[in-house]
Amino acid sequence: MIIAIDGPAASGKGTLGRRLAAHYGYRHLDTGLLYRAVAKAVSDAGGRAEDREAAIACARKFDPAWLSHPDLGKDGIGNMASIVSAVPEVREALLNFQRDFARQPPGAVLDGRDIGTVICPSAEVKIFVTAAPEERARRRTLELRQRGEPAQEAEVLADILRRDERDRSRAVGPLMQAPDAQLLDTTCLDIEAALAAAVRIVNSRRAR
Ligand code: DC
Repeated sequence: MIIAIDGPAASGKGTLGRRLAAHYGYRHLDTGLLYRAVAKAVSDAGGRAEDREAAIACARKFDPAWLSHPDLGKDGIGNMASIVSAVPEVREALLNFQRDFARQPPGAVLDGRDIGTVICPSAEVKIFVTAAPEERARRRTLELRQRGEPAQEAEVLADILRRDERDRSRAVGPLMQAPDAQLLDTTCLDIEAALAAAVRIVNSRRAR
């Protein structure tokens, strides 16, 4: 079974994906890490996120070993990732890795922006996770501070809104809810409650 989870920045989809995968004994891929890894490779090579050719070259050299770098969670890398991910050739270069991952037994949970629409359009379960921007900013600020990064909630909110707009308006693989995805709003849910709601969605699809 493939479980596709999409949603905007800091909606909780990563944690939810990880917990859901552990619950069912499936493999988990946070696909945002792929774009973050490409962004970091561009930056390490001295390039800027806006440099399309550099982004395409790095995406074509993508190595899964890049995914475990501790710096990928940094906010600056997330912003660069949002820029490089708008380049169609970058998305194309990362497509097969994601589809291959999804196909491996015993099952997989992938989270990102275009999993239910482009990467795995025939996934058995699709969940679109969202939360109010203010709540997402509150959570991301907390997370950044726990990592030792200084973060101001107002700046984080502005950043999230900018990133949402960029991710939604790009021409290829934009952030959008697939018509057959279930909406899960986690604004008023902690992770345990969100996990319980997601498990209910998965189990009801499995029962059909
Ligand atoms: O989920 P995240 O914050 O780690 O993602 C970082 C950026 O990568 C996000 O702003 C847009 C891009 N992304 C994407 O375009 N498609 C995906 N499936 C996952 C992430």
